[in-house]
Amino acid sequence: MRRVLIAGNWKMNTTRVPAVALAEGIAEKANDFDSLDLAVCPPSCYLDAVGRAIAGSKVGLGAQNMYHEREGAYTGEISAAMLCDLGCRYVILGHSERRHILGETDGAINQKVLAALAAGLTPIVCVGELLAEREAGQTFAVIGRQFDGSLAGLSAEQMSNVVIAYEPVWAIGTGKVATPQQAEEVHLALRKLIEKRYNEGLAKGVRIQYGGSVKPENAAELLKQPDIDGALVGGASLKVDLFLGIAAGAL
Ligand code: PGA
Repeated sequence: MRRVLIAGNWKMNTTRVPAVALAEGIAEKANDFDSLDLAVCPPSCYLDAVGRAIAGSKVGLGAQNMYHEREGAYTGEISAAMLCDLGCRYVILGHSERRHILGETDGAINQKVLAALAAGLTPIVCVGELLAEREAGQTFAVIGRQFDGSLAGLSAEQMSNVVIAYEPVWAIGTGKVATPQQAEEVHLALRKLIEKRYNEGLAKGVRIQYGGSVKPENAAELLKQPDIDGALVGGASLKVDLFLGIAAGAL
């Protein structure tokens, strides 16, 4: 069965001391969540410090981005091997802020996904439609295009090591959460896309997280949906109680 994954995307927030305190606070209580996978994704400059803070706990470390090349003259970039060296297990790829603010294309995301998998990282690949796209009835077309582009060329084995995060862009950081039904229908559509390209067994094993204004108050309802296998949490992942309150919704 799919294990629920609750991951915190800290984005470009916190500084070293509060980052370590947040990580320690989560690690301290992590054993209350034995049946779930937990992960924190701090800014890359704090991966080392946060990695030390959660060492020996069941909390996994994740990065928020990486570059697809192995090494070389790529000023400002970080490779998959460097993330592994820092103890990362996960890397968020294709987050909507990287797609829409930093201009990442499905092609670029695809190269990163392949490089992450080759290095043994678990990519958390984000897809999601804009409000205008939802209102124009294009949600499934957009999701399909992002799935095809970002996840092109993956073998079945590679696909089984991917986590997908459905994050409707209009729900990210807005307080406007998708209803459990809105989220579930997209998750189911994503699972059907996996089934169509690979097979039913593989589709049943891939974890699909929901992200976008997840809070302790709405987590349980979302996580109860048959095809929602966890949450990618932004704002509420910056407070121990809120993050673990969301995880509690999956127990
Ligand atoms: P949010 O962000 O929880 O603050 O809406 C989610 C995300 O961007 O992953």
